[in-house]
Amino acid sequence: MNFAPPALSSSDLLSPMTKAAAPAPHALPDSWPSPGLAATIAECRPFYHGKRVLVTGAFGFVGGHLARALHACGAQVGALDREVNPGAGSQIELAGLRDDVEIFPVDITDMNAVCHTVREGRFDFIFHLAAGATTIESAMGDPYATIMANTMGFVNFAECARRLPREERPVLLLSSTDKVYGESEALPYDEEKSALRGVGVYDAAKLAADIFAGMYHQALGLETIVLRMCNLFGPYDFNTDYRLIPKAMRNIFRDHDAPELYFSSLQHFRDYLYVEDAARAFLLLGREQKCRGHVFNLPGAHYASTPDVLREVIQAVAALQQRAHDEGNEPLAKWDWNRHIRLIDSSLSAMTISKQHLCGEKIKAATNFEPTMELQEGLQKTAAFYAWYFGNRRCA
Ligand SMILES: NC(=O)c1ccc[n+]([C@@H]2O[C@H](COP(=O)([O-])OP(=O)(O)OC[C@H]3O[C@@H](n4cnc5c(N)ncnc54)[C@H](O)[C@@H]3O)[C@@H](O)[C@H]2O)c1
Repeated sequence: MNFAPPALSSSDLLSPMTKAAAPAPHALPDSWPSPGLAATIAECRPFYHGKRVLVTGAFGFVGGHLARALHACGAQVGALDREVNPGAGSQIELAGLRDDVEIFPVDITDMNAVCHTVREGRFDFIFHLAAGATTIESAMGDPYATIMANTMGFVNFAECARRLPREERPVLLLSSTDKVYGESEALPYDEEKSALRGVGVYDAAKLAADIFAGMYHQALGLETIVLRMCNLFGPYDFNTDYRLIPKAMRNIFRDHDAPELYFSSLQHFRDYLYVEDAARAFLLLGREQKCRGHVFNLPGAHYASTPDVLREVIQAVAALQQRAHDEGNEPLAKWDWNRHIRLIDSSLSAMTISKQHLCGEKIKAATNFEPTMELQEGLQKTAAFYAWYFGNRRCA
């Protein structure tokens, strides 16, 4: 089934097959940091400089951006992950950060290994981003492993930190998700007023960790901060099998095909935020003493329906094509998919929340955080990265 998105004129796209034989560009188009992140790094550098910080999930999408930002702040960065040589790649590898961080190849479900790392690391901050099964499909496929990684993985860090002498305990930040709120008539979700009803496997496992973060603070005195994040996008997300934007990039740049959209997601609405803005939020929250013990939403720069976001993706790729054409450079995409979107069915639609929308007033009041990157500009940076990635690497 084909779905042609509205509001794109045919002149938005260059003719398909004339571009097909062009070679891909070779230099990694690394625009990191964006001006917004650069300003936040400059602002936070005096605070983080020399501090010992651990980023879990550092070889993943968000963790890679955060580890790089903390390194740019002058922190001594520990990069923990179960997979420290991921086949699809990582920002730490591609951006040449491997020698700048201390690498901890640790499985967060291994309590002994986590306690050893926390005790010996003497960290000032632990940014806990490691999580398994970050898509509905993979979480449904292995609920037990999802709960072990996404709930108990956090509890292991909290418990190991709690066992340290009080003055040696790190501040522990948890990357939570807007999915903890579940389906709600009252939008946007509010940290204090909205009910918590994570229903899916991933959602419930993250919600349990989110609640335990509050418990470890209120009952046991650990300094925790929870950040409930919306949908993030940007370069270096190698979850190209399931997530909307990286999957569309794979469809376009690797498969030379139309992007796919689940039929059920035609009516879905989500917040979207450029990943470097998420890294900014973590830096700002960690710095503010008054944020400790609190839960914050991380709002998007853009609230939109899923088909509209795919239309924006196509516009971003078209803009890059046009720019390459105007500058006499090689085109980036091999356009033989034209302007179609493929609609596919999913048996998991019943587990999917129809509308997710976060109120960002609390984090703004506490840290002055506001998104700095517009959706279309962020998508163009993202598209440039994936054009390079799929043009120069055969994996993923
Ligand atoms: N990307 C988003 O849009 C988004 C939105 C809301 C919340 N989050 C949360 O942000 C965090 C980071 O997400 P991401 O998009 O970077 O995901 P990702 O899948 O790119 O990265 C997760 C990393 O965690 C590691 N990991 C998984 N299980 C592990 C284990 N048992 N031990 C050690 N490491 C393990 C993986 O190897 C991977 O490198 C997650 O906690 C996720 O729940 C992400």
